[in-house]
Amino acid sequence: MENTVLLALAVAAVSYALIRLLGRRRPPYLPGPTPLPVLGNLLQMPTEREWLVFTEWAKTYGDCIHLKVLGQSIVVLNSFEAASDLLEKRSAMYSSRPRLVMAGELIGFAQAMALMPYTERFRQLRRMAHKELTGAALQRYWPLHEHDSRYLVLKVMEHPSDLAKLVRHYAGSVILKVTYGYQTKPEDDPFLLLAEKVMGAFSIASKPGNWLVDFVPWLRHLPDCVPGTHFKQVARELSALHMQVIEGPYHWALARQDTPEVIKPNFVSTVMSRKAGSLTAEENEILLWSSASLFGGGADTTVSSITSFYLAMALYPEVQAKGRAEIDRVVGDRRLPQLSDQQDLPYIEAIMREVLRWNPVAPLGVPHLSTQDDIYRDRFIPSGAIVMSNIWAMLHDPAMFPNPQEFNPDRFLGNEAALKRTSVAFGFGRRLCPGMNFAESSVFIAIATALATCEIRDPLNENGAPILREVMYETGTISHPPPFTCSVSPRSKDHSDLLEASLAC
Ligand code: HEM
Repeated sequence: MENTVLLALAVAAVSYALIRLLGRRRPPYLPGPTPLPVLGNLLQMPTEREWLVFTEWAKTYGDCIHLKVLGQSIVVLNSFEAASDLLEKRSAMYSSRPRLVMAGELIGFAQAMALMPYTERFRQLRRMAHKELTGAALQRYWPLHEHDSRYLVLKVMEHPSDLAKLVRHYAGSVILKVTYGYQTKPEDDPFLLLAEKVMGAFSIASKPGNWLVDFVPWLRHLPDCVPGTHFKQVARELSALHMQVIEGPYHWALARQDTPEVIKPNFVSTVMSRKAGSLTAEENEILLWSSASLFGGGADTTVSSITSFYLAMALYPEVQAKGRAEIDRVVGDRRLPQLSDQQDLPYIEAIMREVLRWNPVAPLGVPHLSTQDDIYRDRFIPSGAIVMSNIWAMLHDPAMFPNPQEFNPDRFLGNEAALKRTSVAFGFGRRLCPGMNFAESSVFIAIATALATCEIRDPLNENGAPILREVMYETGTISHPPPFTCSVSPRSKDHSDLLEASLAC
């Protein structure tokens, strides 16, 4: 017995010495602001528009920064080279997602693609979505994008002060049709209202530092009667709300598959028909969650790009005039632009790229998680580090985009490298946005239709004062322009007649 104890002590001592030795041998972390004991960089962490602070820090510490917050390593990648080296070339170890106990596990957001760890189930969801949202499959949705973009412009001309609300309705309506074949109601659509509530719930539930259980996961196992466990009640309520938005439109679609109420093609019915109308329980779960992932991914993102477009046009009338002139030259004034015109409209394409670059929709992307210890540029990145890509910094790199604050689509003309670089707006590697091509079609046609038919002018902020070109975007995972109004009027009676006529048929 005594020998066993001695042996155990010896093993422990040797292990401790080895850990110390190996620990000392591992290279240092990437550079970053000096951390305090225990708290680490907690007190230095920015709480809003973090991308601007990280861009400033890059001037001192370089393009890859290491931070420690309460023991958690965070790596911020401020350059395209670093993001591509790690998230793409080493994607086998940088493709998971950080754990969010409250939002992800207790409420259930991690069952949808964007917050899922990199597991076999994730790959099943992604494969299913990928098939429907790439290549020739996408063209089936072109008439739908064209129709809805015309409806949007008509509504915006009628009620320009409701721009943000109308664009939100447009994006939600397109994604509900494409995903479930559901036609939204013009006002107060129940699924869109529900989706807005759930997005609100998500921002409360995922706010860093809001929930102790995110730092101390075992708290979730305490019984409800223990003081301080109110979070469990909140989680149950939000989880029920979340499930309504996941299941509501899905069950609506399943129940009406063969009725004229369902608009086809759509994602759910295409997958169903490939499986001859009958799914195993597992396939049903995968379809449920992959359709919910598309709905979640598409409902708010293009909203930011399209409202940005209206703001940019109001601020840069010379760009607007140039875009319109290209449409008049290529498309003429006897019909409206279509997605098949895209390859013949390089300046409109450049406006779309500039919208994605000028104020990116997701300035810090969605965080990745490293799943193995790694060495990069002779520095140590531990397994379990949260890896954030500063997409805003990459799209404001003056070496690639001179004078980056200016909205200048001309920068892309004849510059293939700059054009290609804008794809970082959609993230990296195995987590690259699966809705990228779909979103580009949606934004492109919204831009082309607006420029073909209306004039956008007089940008005012919410207090009625003129907006300056150095406009400050809102904070958040998805960053929107600040509230503004602008006037949107038809170019001529012929143009509004053309719009009306296109919707009548
Ligand atoms: C302008 C519009 C959009 C932008 C800028 C955008 C951007 C992004 C970004 C930056 C990510 C994270 C990528 C990463 O982790 O590296 C992402 C993920 C995702 N996006 Fe988009 N997105 C847009 C529109 C859409 C649309 C329309 C859909 C659906 C049809 C969609 C579905 C998704 C999904 C499901 C994910 C999670 C993917 C994963 O975790 O593997 N997005 N998007």
